[in-house]
Amino acid sequence: KELIAEAEAFTAQSKEEIEAFRIKYLGKKGLLNDYFSEFKNVANDQKKEFGQVINALKKAAEDKVNALREELESKEVVNGVYNDLSRPGAPIHIGARHPISIVKNQIIDIFSNIGFNVSEGPEIEDDWHNFTALNLPEYHPARDMQDTFFIQTNPDILLRTHTSSVQVRYMENNQPPIRTISPGRVYRNEAISARSHCFFHQVEGLYIDKDVSFADLKQTLQYFTTQMFGKSKIRLRPSYFPFTEPSAEIDVYWGLATETDYRITKGTGWLEIGGCGMVDPNVLENCNIDSKAYSGFAFGMGIDRIAMLLHQIGDIRLLSENDVRFLEQFKNAL
Ligand code: PHE
Repeated sequence: KELIAEAEAFTAQSKEEIEAFRIKYLGKKGLLNDYFSEFKNVANDQKKEFGQVINALKKAAEDKVNALREELESKEVVNGVYNDLSRPGAPIHIGARHPISIVKNQIIDIFSNIGFNVSEGPEIEDDWHNFTALNLPEYHPARDMQDTFFIQTNPDILLRTHTSSVQVRYMENNQPPIRTISPGRVYRNEAISARSHCFFHQVEGLYIDKDVSFADLKQTLQYFTTQMFGKSKIRLRPSYFPFTEPSAEIDVYWGLATETDYRITKGTGWLEIGGCGMVDPNVLENCNIDSKAYSGFAFGMGIDRIAMLLHQIGDIRLLSENDVRFLEQFKNAL
């Protein structure tokens, strides 16, 4: 009983003192083990009391060790910092960047290396910036190419169907030389499936200066795909856009290594990543740029498609469902 009182009164300043105390009472050759082995020699009528006392002693010793350890640990924190530098760090839960942001930032980096800046504009647009200035007057049949979500008609206010609208705004406010890319979210009234969504992300590029040629456009796109995908082959297929002449679709050869590649490239190995062309002189004039003095090229690419290909994402809907099990997989891809 005296030992219990002694144990309860014990204090310690260091880990070593606590450890010595623990060994003295609770160690293999400690006091308690001695008492427990003496137990069989105790007279039967005293066994009960003896047992109670040593159990109480054991508990007192254990409680003391725990209490002292906790007290010491709390003292190790000075100004919120652990004094013990050998202590393992507390795990920090970090988030992951969204694959769309990862790919968007890569694209911005690649183009900034050749002198393109970044421009942004509103997602809710007026008719002029999304259509009319881009050589798509009212009732132009090509307006049907992009199924538009209208917010209001007459005057028309809509969700932008491409970030070409940002290029119009940029040209209205800047004179050549212009080298800018416009990343952002765009909206189209399309059925949602594994391959297409009613909103997605684009990067459009615009380069206007004296004597800009189609060869400059092709070389710029080849530079981009080489940086983005490694050594790569591109194909420009003749196409039509109201705001460019001539116009082309941009295909990148990706190959067919996986099931996802098959799905995304429809089994051809070629992926259409966007459209491009020489800016139509009408568009330059609409934006107060002298089309006799200047020429330029423009292109637009889908960020979602590129992200799906690079990260083997087989369904575009995953990009907007915000399932953490999906998002957490991009922790290493900052
Ligand atoms: N704005 C076009 C689209 O969204 C892409 C494009 C941009 C095509 C620039 C040509 C030149 O489909």
